[in-house]
Amino acid sequence: MTRHLVVFQPSGKRGRIRRGSSILEAARGLGVDLETICGGRQTCGKCRVRVEEGSRSALGISSGRRHLSPPTEREWELLGEMAIAQGYRLACAATIQGDLHLFVPEGSRAVRQVVPKTTIQRAIPLKPALRRCYVELPPPSLEDPRGDWERLSQELGRNFGLAGLDIDYQVLGRLAQELRSGDWKVTVTVWHDREVVKVEPGLVDKSYGLALDIGTTTLAGYLCDLSSGQVMAAGAALNPQVSYGEDVVSRIAYAMETPQGLDRLHDVVVEALNDMVRNLVGEVGLAAEDISEVTVVGNTAMHHLFLRLDPRHLGRIPFAPTLHRPLDIKARDLGLRVHPAANVHVLPIEAGFVGADNVAVLIAEEPYNQEEMALIVDIGTNGELVLGNRQRLLSASCATGPAFEGAHIRFGMRAAPGAIEKVSIDPHSLEVGFKVVGEERWSGERPEVKARGICGSGIIDAVAEMLKAGIIKPNGTFNRDISSPRLLLGGTEPEFVIARAQESALGREITVSQGDVRAVQLAKGALYSGARVLMAKLGIQRVDKVVLAGSFGLSIDREKALTLGLFPYCEPERVHCVGNAAGEGARLALINVDKRREAAEVARWVEYVELTLEPSFPEEFAAAMAFPAP
Ligand code: FES
Repeated sequence: MTRHLVVFQPSGKRGRIRRGSSILEAARGLGVDLETICGGRQTCGKCRVRVEEGSRSALGISSGRRHLSPPTEREWELLGEMAIAQGYRLACAATIQGDLHLFVPEGSRAVRQVVPKTTIQRAIPLKPALRRCYVELPPPSLEDPRGDWERLSQELGRNFGLAGLDIDYQVLGRLAQELRSGDWKVTVTVWHDREVVKVEPGLVDKSYGLALDIGTTTLAGYLCDLSSGQVMAAGAALNPQVSYGEDVVSRIAYAMETPQGLDRLHDVVVEALNDMVRNLVGEVGLAAEDISEVTVVGNTAMHHLFLRLDPRHLGRIPFAPTLHRPLDIKARDLGLRVHPAANVHVLPIEAGFVGADNVAVLIAEEPYNQEEMALIVDIGTNGELVLGNRQRLLSASCATGPAFEGAHIRFGMRAAPGAIEKVSIDPHSLEVGFKVVGEERWSGERPEVKARGICGSGIIDAVAEMLKAGIIKPNGTFNRDISSPRLLLGGTEPEFVIARAQESALGREITVSQGDVRAVQLAKGALYSGARVLMAKLGIQRVDKVVLAGSFGLSIDREKALTLGLFPYCEPERVHCVGNAAGEGARLALINVDKRREAAEVARWVEYVELTLEPSFPEEFAAAMAFPAP
């Protein structure tokens, strides 16, 4: 029987599937959640997936549309010509005829990510880049035949002290109409007291902005009311670039080696951001055009791909970016569908892989204003570290891989309803209790709750509990001498059962395998050793506090993180989880322009340490792979 390799993204789940099976059968067999409201009867059109064309040496696959059966009549009806031309197919209709690399878009995933609705919102004074001015103008007459713009700009100069203003070209195009439809009473939005970016009829007393955090794996957006600075709606989505490479290095390679690769990576992320904008404004009854200002943060590679800047030099010593300084650019030039004249302020980057996201974390946490020696750990697909205080700040980036985000873990999933997020193991009976996202009670208390997989904080919990209970040893190997029906030794690698088949929505056991433990060891080894190298540079043995940033940091159990040695020891009560501090930094820069200046200054001041060039790093890394003895 012929079998073909099928890889699903962004989960990375893969397997050899019998020729002639439908994509839906493959997805079910591999545990990929697909939306199938009609149960596979080809009527709902929800199960769409996209075929990625071409060879991916990293995945060992050569995929193409011809590796599927031809589109059925129902697919033509439900998807339409355009979507089929873009490679979309219905999973329940298309059958497998060759190797396939498939991308499951957000809308086709049965389980969506749980979005932390807000970051921890710091209170700072409001000082946005936008200023609203209400003006009432005398209409033109034979005695006063000034042009519309001269009439408006002179009024703004006289009443608001705004001299020498410019007007956005597209706004100018609509000026005559807006003035007349408002009967010469209009609200004008002025950016940085320099440029008119909006003219609206009548008195408008609200304006809105958007803070975006472009992560390697996750996109986060915060729609803010610029009159209060508060988040009105928050959203998250997977960065669709993951199907072109899971880490920044492989994405840079794709951008450089594939014709139009850079354009493609830019387009897919902007498309996903536009989808997010639509959802956010829809949630609060606004229109995308109501967003008049945007701030963006992201690591250096995400920053370059978003701006369509050549990223090739980021991957080579001396890792020089195209630019460090902050950038202001029109939303329409980037294809971002908000108000077309809206300004997009992209925060500055530091160096190499330490980017604007790290700068945003700094302006949110302000270690440069404090005496305490703080270690800030931003956990994402890349781990970013900052160590220091008001005297000196060091930063570094380390390749943690996506294990802490639930990827590359056998039953890994994102923090969505049904994901195991907390685990406890009785050290004597080795019985397991777990709690899933979206449910307050633990597994034993409510039998009908079914687990669907394990998310990042769940895997930390599970491995820490396995270590404490002696199921794994400090070197990460399984202890084969323990006696428990949960320890499975018959497969290719040892596994420990966290959820029994009857507790699982997958209809089979959910386990933690030796490979999963290794992935956690690699990730924690990278973080721990990076922190040690920075501490040695500052000549310190201990830190005063640890700040865990990243939405994953919000749900992590501090004690368990210390059990695993994720970072150098610090009193548990001095470990603070602050959520998506990069997103919060983007919000602060959105609502207060002084924060933009602060970001530009700190980006120049902080000293970047390239860990891979540090002689002590390989040794520290090897030592940090082991878990602390329980
Ligand atoms: Fe409904 Fe495929 S599951 S169309």
